[in-house]
Amino acid sequence: MLDFLGTRQRTHTCGELRAADAGKTVTLMGWVNRRRDHGNLIFLDLRDRYGITQIVLDKEISPEGHPKAEHVRPEYVVAAIGKVRLRGADAINPKMVTGEIEVAATELLVLNDSKVPPFSPAEDAIQNEEVRLKYRYLDLRRPEMQHNIETRHKVALAVREYLANQGFYEIETPYLTGSTPEGARDYLVPSRVNPGTFYALPQSPQLFKQILMISGLDKYFQIARCFRDEDLRADRQPEFTQIDLEMSFPQQETVFKVVEGFLKAAFEVAGEKIDTPFPRMTYDEAIRLYGIDKPDQRLPPMTDIRDVFSAEELGSLKIEPGLPIVAIVIPGKQGMSNTQKKVFGQEINAAVGPDLAWLDVERLEKSAEYSALAGRIDAAAGKNCGLARVEPENRLIVLSPRIGTEPPAKDRLWLYKKAGQLRLDLAKRFQDEHRAFEKKGNADDYKFLWVTDFPFFEWDEEKKTWTFAHHPFTSPHEDDLIAGRMESDPEAVRSLAYDIVLNGLELGSGSIRIHRQDVQSQIFRALGMSDEEAKARFGFFLEALQYGTPPHGGIALGLDRIVMILTGTASLREVIAFPKTAKAIDLMVDAPSAVRDEQLKELHIRPVTRS
Ligand code: AMO
Repeated sequence: MLDFLGTRQRTHTCGELRAADAGKTVTLMGWVNRRRDHGNLIFLDLRDRYGITQIVLDKEISPEGHPKAEHVRPEYVVAAIGKVRLRGADAINPKMVTGEIEVAATELLVLNDSKVPPFSPAEDAIQNEEVRLKYRYLDLRRPEMQHNIETRHKVALAVREYLANQGFYEIETPYLTGSTPEGARDYLVPSRVNPGTFYALPQSPQLFKQILMISGLDKYFQIARCFRDEDLRADRQPEFTQIDLEMSFPQQETVFKVVEGFLKAAFEVAGEKIDTPFPRMTYDEAIRLYGIDKPDQRLPPMTDIRDVFSAEELGSLKIEPGLPIVAIVIPGKQGMSNTQKKVFGQEINAAVGPDLAWLDVERLEKSAEYSALAGRIDAAAGKNCGLARVEPENRLIVLSPRIGTEPPAKDRLWLYKKAGQLRLDLAKRFQDEHRAFEKKGNADDYKFLWVTDFPFFEWDEEKKTWTFAHHPFTSPHEDDLIAGRMESDPEAVRSLAYDIVLNGLELGSGSIRIHRQDVQSQIFRALGMSDEEAKARFGFFLEALQYGTPPHGGIALGLDRIVMILTGTASLREVIAFPKTAKAIDLMVDAPSAVRDEQLKELHIRPVTRS
């Protein structure tokens, strides 16, 4: 039998009452977290977003409430009316903020019952993620998830406040729109009114925010939902949220300052202090030192050690003299066991491929012929990492191109990239315990970095063309345009694109944009797009560019990723209220799903296959 609420009002939350409240008559409402039946005394831990308070139903104090409590089960919703009293000294729970008191109920209203839940929100760790996602409402009741959602809210609010104070307007842009290319597939929405045509959900508000600058709005931001049909990973969701902004007349530095400002504010509300300004590194440096455009600076950098080899050593080790030789330090807590060493060797062999060889410096050290070389390698690599020498518990390996190796024509940094990937793989595989790979650590473990001067073009080996590295609205360096490198040496053209990286994760990307229609058309042509195609895809934008477009630029940061780092979680699913699985399925609402024939007919769509 359920009770009616009547005119009852909650007077306090379940996280609010303290010793000083003893003697007050209160009404609490919430979910039964746990129930303990001691015969004449029944204890209910009542839970809401704010905390947990212990309710006692004493047969003598509440002859009507006590029998009801006998039937109450976890996740029932109840109202408890009674007096706050101090717990006896031996019953105080120092782990709970409300642990000094309890509420001696005079009345208990059972407002709702609950089926036996597939898992208890009172538990800390629930292994089966599918069940968590299917019953997301139960999962979200868990204090850990409530904390993540709260952090997300606070971060978004801090960013909003900061940007508003800096003069940014928050402006919404459409969801039903045309394609904005960000390198993923579009989600399409068929139009009923215009048979055979489709809207695309925005991969980002990119073109709209640029148009807002053409519109003279000067500073725009939006906490914007974006949609991308791409292969999903722990740090990618098909719909996700960007802190998106755009400014008129900025230099890169202007954008950096704004981002540093709102990140500082966002980290602060989550209880973390960070230092600004963040260090900078060019793309070239990042690749040479870390082999990747999102360096994790908690790891030691790589070193090109070609200079420490003599010509004879290069010859006898059969190393190509004209290419870089890269030393990689893999940090470890302890040395490896012999079995680990064997697996380590096999993995490197498999990863490096036929063109490359690798040298294990520990082995070189032991050989009479190469021990001097090993010493020189050790000193050079150590110096680059800021160490006197590479500590023995770390592994030092050297990746060297075999004699006669030709680097790929369109990727001069190929060896560094390969070495960087190998280093990350090995470090993850063999040094799982290493601090560098923990998601969250001490305040000084937040290694922010701006990566600048990205190449403008990337070679697409499959299509055998140059393609854009950021997006096609990014401005090339003016110097490279002036020098005519667009035609003469596309690989050397730098863009005014930048990334903000935190601990090896790309948090955001942006650029100074092209503001001239002639340059934009030139870029489309360089990307192999005919004038007709450019017009068909972005005609409205090319048109808009011709009406007095100011120089402008901006950036977008992944809000989900920021919150993931701040909550120390390992997947975006932990910080999005209703996320999708790796197969882009919403297990709770069971989407995507088949639709009625009638709906398809209205949309003029005939399915070729059915699920
Ligand atoms: P970009 O495509 O690099 O740039 O995206 C910016 C940031 O958005 C986040 N992000 C994602 N987060 C979760 N799931 C995804 N599938 C996903 N894809 C991207 C990342 C990324 O760094 N319009 C440009 C920005 C600009 O030039 O101003 C853009 O969208 O944190």
